[in-house]
Amino acid sequence: MPTPSSPLRIAVLVSGSGSNLQALIDGCASGLIPGQIVLVLSNNPEAFGIERAKRHQIPTEVVNHRLYANRAAFDQELTRLLEQYEAQLVCLAGFMRVLTAEFTQHFAGRLLNIHPALLPAFPGLHVQQQAIDAGVRFSGATVHFVVPEVDAGPIVVQAVVPVLADDTADSLAARILRQEHRIYPLAVRWFAQGRLSLTGKRVQLRDAQEEREAALIHPSGE
Ligand code: GRF
Repeated sequence: MPTPSSPLRIAVLVSGSGSNLQALIDGCASGLIPGQIVLVLSNNPEAFGIERAKRHQIPTEVVNHRLYANRAAFDQELTRLLEQYEAQLVCLAGFMRVLTAEFTQHFAGRLLNIHPALLPAFPGLHVQQQAIDAGVRFSGATVHFVVPEVDAGPIVVQAVVPVLADDTADSLAARILRQEHRIYPLAVRWFAQGRLSLTGKRVQLRDAQEEREAALIHPSGE
């Protein structure tokens, strides 16, 4: 377990822009997260997340999935690198590859993902458009532990945003993303502090402050 003299060793897996990676980098730099990002890994050589890591002198690796015969071989290479860098926590941050059950089981309890919807509603892709089409009044973001089933797994934290009458998938995605940047560093902070534990599908946060009557109503009608 991490101690003050040995901050949590975090690996972040990205495929694209890496704005969530940036939020985690900033969270480590500010001291919010008692940890250090020891590796940024991407399946996409063009991912801007790789560039972000380099700007912060964080080691990077690219494992181009197109060069691997199948998912198992690709995931084995990911596992090898994550072990080599001695990652204690693996954060998926816009990582657009489905991982094998073997991989998720290997890192069970130390593998997190962020998803731009209020799971278990709207798993999968194009979820902002799905939320708009379904007519829900709220959507949001979820940080969860990863299990073999895609976008399932015990939920650590969620943020809720309204779905507005004139929303497009892009405007809703931007509103959700701003909240992702708040909750992912929080979830990683709690993990690094050793405050998260699992009971079945439920995640317990030790010493949590809860607002017993918290509620949002949208639209207000006024
Ligand atoms: C985020 O919306 C994340 O929830 C989803 O992919 C997007 C990645 O954005 N899985 P970024 O690469 O972190 O900017």
